[in-house]
Amino acid sequence: RLQKEIEELERLFTIDTEKLKKITDHFGHELEKGLTVEGGSIPMNPTWVMSYPTGYETGTYLALDMGGTNLRVCQVTLTDAKSEFDIIQSKYRMPEELKTGDADELWEYIADCLIQFIETHHGDTANIEKLPLGFTFSYPATQNYIDAGILQRWTKGFNIDGVEGQNVVPMFEAALKRRGAPIKLTALINDTTGTLIASAYTDPKMKIGCIFGTGCNAAYMENCGSIPKLAHYNLPPDTPMAINCEWGAFDNEHQVLPRTPYDTAIDRESPRPGQQAFEKMIAGLYLGELFRLVLVDLADNHQVHIFQGQSIGALRKAYSLDSSFLSAIEEDPDKDNLSETADLFQSKLGIRPSKDELKLVRRTAELIGTRAARLSACGVAAISRKKGYKTCHVGADGSVFNKYPHFKSRGAVALREILDWPDKSDPKEEDPIEILAAEDGSGVGAALIAALTLERVKKGN
Ligand code: BG6
Ligand code: GLC
Repeated sequence: RLQKEIEELERLFTIDTEKLKKITDHFGHELEKGLTVEGGSIPMNPTWVMSYPTGYETGTYLALDMGGTNLRVCQVTLTDAKSEFDIIQSKYRMPEELKTGDADELWEYIADCLIQFIETHHGDTANIEKLPLGFTFSYPATQNYIDAGILQRWTKGFNIDGVEGQNVVPMFEAALKRRGAPIKLTALINDTTGTLIASAYTDPKMKIGCIFGTGCNAAYMENCGSIPKLAHYNLPPDTPMAINCEWGAFDNEHQVLPRTPYDTAIDRESPRPGQQAFEKMIAGLYLGELFRLVLVDLADNHQVHIFQGQSIGALRKAYSLDSSFLSAIEEDPDKDNLSETADLFQSKLGIRPSKDELKLVRRTAELIGTRAARLSACGVAAISRKKGYKTCHVGADGSVFNKYPHFKSRGAVALREILDWPDKSDPKEEDPIEILAAEDGSGVGAALIAALTLERVKKGN
């Protein structure tokens, strides 16, 4: 019954090889443009992380990770044994209301979590001030120094007044000071840079760090000679510099990405319309919302109305479905009856889909999940090509990469199509460029970056 609707969705959401290649070409140009003085829409932020770890870094560090979903505090000890570490950590929920609340409340909450962690593990904050702190702040920031970062704009649905355009470090340090813990931050880090460095610590083939989670982004190591916007620093051209691409902003001009009316709607209703065009088609924050918008549209506006005669009030609530809802649908083992999907619709939304509707729902989830994975591959291919990496490992982290069914294999297939790799003779054979699960970037990565920073300061660079 719903065959025509399914075909229309397939037309909207499928991205063929030809198109992937076009997107990748444009991506390459935009990466270059972001490094110029004039800049482009991809920020390509220099991070002042200027070397890979050797594996012989040592010391104890505090790491704080403010991602989109959780707040995590870690104490990481890099041991004498090569590439080994011990970690203790606590996770705190990032309260939803903080994301659109008041700046002071945000910093106070983060400071409280850090202090609570220290008190639990050290009794009090007396000696802790000496422990270097790496703060993983995973939003686009302009960094003129490694221990400073001016927030360019909030992403991932955050919308807190008074922070954009400001250096976030003094705000956070002030909150710590007010609580009698004058801890000095050693390095401000992006989660992608942390992922890159943590992955390279255990695997020197790792050349790109990616996050496919609430947001979507990547970092890689560039040579300063290829970063015209840093020319005024007169750094030797072969000096390495990790670049936090902030590739979520790719194609904000809407030149190549095949956006659907649902993508346009997500953008329009978001706190920052016109920003993060690429991210809004890929990241975990938006996958469930895309799916919801498709279903509401099919219930309201199409010739064949789905869920007819049933109340879809719960489905009308924006952002009521997250990407785990789609994961569960894609994972439903009962391919014929989709009984788990039916139960999910009943329990979460109070809707009883027909058999045809269940099929449509499953196909919609597949289409949205597949498109996200295939588009991600364009970014990885563009960086690899720009750097001339014929073979390398890419370290990836985030809830979508780790939990969304088939995300890895769909991404790998797309990479193969874009880069024209010949078919493998043995399916177990490694691809020339493999996207692999990363080491913990905001724990180990932050500790390593703090260690590398202190080493650099010691050497007087
Ligand atoms: C975590 C990293 O595993 O993944 C964080 O440690 C990162 O630094 C996060 O921000 C991204 O995933 P998600 O799904 O929480 O956005
Ligand atoms: C968003 C942020 C970016 C972060 C990514 C993954 O794109 O802007 O800084 O790396 O999400 O968390």
